[in-house]
Amino acid sequence: MNEKIALITGANKGIGLEIARQLGKQGMIVLVGARSLDKAEQAAAELQAEQFRAYPIKLDVTDQQDIRTAAERINTKYGKLDVLVNNAGIYVDHEGTDVDMMRRSFETNFFGAYALTISLLHLLKLSPAGRIVNQSSILGSVGTILTNEMYGRASVPAYTTSKAALNAWTAQLSIQLRDTPIKVNACHPGWVKTDMGGSGAFMEIEEGAETAVFLATLPGDGPTGGLFHKQETLPW
Ligand SMILES: NC(=O)c1ccc[n+]([C@@H]2O[C@H](COP(=O)([O-])OP(=O)(O)OC[C@H]3O[C@@H](n4cnc5c(N)ncnc54)[C@H](OP(=O)(O)O)[C@@H]3O)[C@@H](O)[C@H]2O)c1
Repeated sequence: MNEKIALITGANKGIGLEIARQLGKQGMIVLVGARSLDKAEQAAAELQAEQFRAYPIKLDVTDQQDIRTAAERINTKYGKLDVLVNNAGIYVDHEGTDVDMMRRSFETNFFGAYALTISLLHLLKLSPAGRIVNQSSILGSVGTILTNEMYGRASVPAYTTSKAALNAWTAQLSIQLRDTPIKVNACHPGWVKTDMGGSGAFMEIEEGAETAVFLATLPGDGPTGGLFHKQETLPW
């Protein structure tokens, strides 16, 4: 089929919902992933009301059964996947980081993206131009941990290390996929006004979705294996 199919996780609100909207605007069929079917249906209905082809999909990225079911549904209905945006993420350091918080953060921010991607890789390989976008953060850039001014303000070990793992795996996956048309990149959206980013953030949600959309729609000669913000490469 010529239609482009995009799956976005954590798409019921915030940056994920806006990525779904912007990809819908580009004519893609968007699968709106959310932890509960209710949330997915509400978000998909919002996008459908704006005339986009959006469909709900229950997808808690920490739930292996949800991942299996999603992969089967996409295979049966579309037979391929063109774009996967691993956007779902949590930030729990403000609750006080302990071993449990560290594990929870890795479960969503790293293992969720990892498990979903490897379960969908065969479908992405059936696309003529598969694109994987891992929604990361500059806070996961090990190269800037000691110099980034955000680190002077907050200690966020669980968020930082789980996003750093996501970054390292993004680079690894790009090596694994280098002989395929698939491009895989990590994304720093900016500091964005969402439930996670808070009202003091610099960026509106529309702008916060732009980097992921840029990476999801890269041309065939576009980059792979990088961490990006607004079309600029950031250090790992
Ligand atoms: N906002 C920023 O300034 C900023 C900066 C850098 C990076 N990011 C990254 O951008 C992404 C989106 O963040 P946001 O600002 O839009 O945050 P948000 O408004 O809190 O949205 C987070 C989304 O992830 C979903 N989610 C959490 N755990 C999940 C799970 N296990 N399975 C499926 N979905 C799950 C949430 O679902 P529920 O509604 O069910 O909780 C929600 O839809 C995150 O990966 C975040 O780390 C954000």
